[in-house]
Amino acid sequence: MEWEESLKVAEEASRMAGEMLRRNIDSSREIVYKGAVNLVTDFDKRSQDVIFSHLSSQFPDHDFLAEEDLCEQRGSEFRWIIDPIDGTTNYVHNFPIFCVSIALEWKNKVVCGVIYDPMREEMFSAISGKGSQVNGQKIHTSATSDLDKSLLATGFPYDVRESEVNNIDHFANFATRVQAIRRCGSAALDLCYVACGRFDGFWELKLSPWDVAAGVLIVEESGGHVSSFQGETASIYGKDLLASNGLIHEQMIQILKLGKQL
Ligand code: IPD
Ligand code: CA
Ligand code: CA
Repeated sequence: MEWEESLKVAEEASRMAGEMLRRNIDSSREIVYKGAVNLVTDFDKRSQDVIFSHLSSQFPDHDFLAEEDLCEQRGSEFRWIIDPIDGTTNYVHNFPIFCVSIALEWKNKVVCGVIYDPMREEMFSAISGKGSQVNGQKIHTSATSDLDKSLLATGFPYDVRESEVNNIDHFANFATRVQAIRRCGSAALDLCYVACGRFDGFWELKLSPWDVAAGVLIVEESGGHVSSFQGETASIYGKDLLASNGLIHEQMIQILKLGKQL
């Protein structure tokens, strides 16, 4: 199966949605609280509508799963997995780190994905078996082999106030062992930054498939490694996710073993 055409349509959809988000960065937003610190805005829904309408006009028989209550099951082997804004909290605060993430599953395997950052106009993409790119240029993970010299990224789950398994222990354990840790607020972009070598590793728990579906493929296709915290085969439906350049993966697993597990 050739996935170039699907990727092209996904890129078009992500660019349309991303440009709409960028144009409206200063507009007022209607905010609804899904939880104490879990926000959704009218722009999450607007972005999703733009993406869904473009993809379904080209692929009317495909299934869809998107964050804002969209689950279309049409009995297809193909399913689009969409995060219409990854980084909603940033978008609400005009903090310019957010993106649109779109992946295509075929027979339950992600075969292509795009992540578009409209503020930096960076289009990250990957096709299974064909490598990862940013704006058409091949990307590769970093060569850092020592955890001590690594720049890592992470995030915290929306139940951070209520749950004991909230990543604060892992954050503290890594903080004294690495060069630095960043918490940028977009798991999808964190994964892209591992893929292109800006970060050496990323870990997070309690993510959803739309947060990571495209990003996991982009890391794997850039030469990186993705697994569970224990080192098992990665799943976009899993409870935790560890992504790295491969070289520091085992060192990260050893630190993650020290903290609470789900
Ligand atoms: C969130 C972002 C954030 C991560 C959260 C995600 P959203 O996605 O990826 O970086 O820490 O766990 O839920 O809500 O902005 O789509
Ligand atoms: Ca997300
Ligand atoms: Ca989202």
